[in-house]
Amino acid sequence: MRKSIGPKKIKTAVFISGKGSNLKNLIKFSKFKNYPFSVDLIISNTNKAKGLRYSKQYRIEKKIINYDKKIKTDKKILHFLNQKKIKLICLAGFMKILSNNFVKKFKGKIINVHPSLLPKYKGLNTHIRAIKNGEKFAGCTVHYITSKLDSGKIILQKKVKISKKDNHFSLAKKILKKEHLIYPAAIKKIYN
Ligand code: GRF
Repeated sequence: MRKSIGPKKIKTAVFISGKGSNLKNLIKFSKFKNYPFSVDLIISNTNKAKGLRYSKQYRIEKKIINYDKKIKTDKKILHFLNQKKIKLICLAGFMKILSNNFVKKFKGKIINVHPSLLPKYKGLNTHIRAIKNGEKFAGCTVHYITSKLDSGKIILQKKVKISKKDNHFSLAKKILKKEHLIYPAAIKKIYN
């Protein structure tokens, strides 16, 4: 793959709350010519998110947003997004629920990666629940965000086998690797 500095990339904001491995991975793919997006803004709801380090490392602007005051928060974020001409939002381990108003304003332009084969296992603790239920397969899904939790149209999914030896840590690790494959691929799929 060749690296790109082309002007036609979709300006993207990545929202995080934690480690940011998906953020790092999206930044990596954004630099390839055949991936149609650039990461121009990182938003976190907490200054404790480890992933914020990639702001400095890759010189990408970051904003930390206090999510306690919903209406003010929406206004603030919309302002930053407009300022940066952001056209796509990627949620990547973002632990806050966006307001309906915000989702409406960015309709069809917010996507998320979820660590389950949706529509199975919406919400939290997906790996623990899948193992407990004796599932043979688990996986991850990239989907659009709508006002209903983890219910928007699916863009891409990837299955992994749950082996007898798996616990939720090993399963999470396996699935995260697949997330790193399908998240950039899903963005490509949207714009190609
Ligand atoms: C991922 O498993 C994602 O699916 C879930 O939270 C985790 C975030 O990982 N929503 P990271 O912060 O991208 O490393």
